[in-house]
Amino acid sequence: MPEVHVSPHPLVQHKLTLLRRSMTEPKKFRELVRELAQFLLYEATLDLPLTPLEITTPLASLMGSEIGAQIGLVPILRAGLGMVDPILELIPTARVWHLGLYRDHATLEPVTYYNKLPAEANTDLCLVLDPMLATGGSATMAVDILKKWGAKRIKFLGLIAAPEGVETLSKAHPDVPIHLAALDDHLNDIGYIVPGLGDAGDRQFGTG
Ligand code: PRP
Ligand code: URA
Repeated sequence: MPEVHVSPHPLVQHKLTLLRRSMTEPKKFRELVRELAQFLLYEATLDLPLTPLEITTPLASLMGSEIGAQIGLVPILRAGLGMVDPILELIPTARVWHLGLYRDHATLEPVTYYNKLPAEANTDLCLVLDPMLATGGSATMAVDILKKWGAKRIKFLGLIAAPEGVETLSKAHPDVPIHLAALDDHLNDIGYIVPGLGDAGDRQFGTG
């Protein structure tokens, strides 16, 4: 069974409500995307393995822990970009590999225009970052690309999904957990999530 996690956290739900509002301007929108990305990361990394690390405090030695895993962040351009810096603040050793995909307006099919994956798939966990999971075409293509490249463990982090997108991604890749702030009602006839928040790229970058 695919894992779909919708955050029940009150702070997530509060900030998501502010994010959705049409009156939220790009500066505030970007700030909320940052904050929500950090909350989602926190929940999506609860199962990260720890390795022991011996340290000395001013009073004693102790066996502490550190994150041993090499983490790769894969933002889907454009809208996934706003989730990168807040996650790097929390995991500064993560590597960032950009994937450029856009939805063809007529067919809603994803089109790849940029791929910055290195030759070697030297990562323990890839986090695919995209605020919106609508038809699921873009996320499914991103995971297809990562698996062909050799990524073994992948999670999807998004803010809002439509049921159609969750179904498409989880049917194609049942091994990829999906972490969300909300699972909305439906897609409209032009492929937008309802109630959603509109176009996440345009709202972040003021291009609507
Ligand atoms: C948006 C969004 C996802 C995609 C989701 O990007 O950021 O990447 O649509 O839709 P899907 O699940 O139906 O594939 P968009 O194509 O608008 O590109 P942009 O970020 O460059 O604006
Ligand atoms: N992409 C967006 O940015 N918003 C949607 O509702 C659907 C796809």
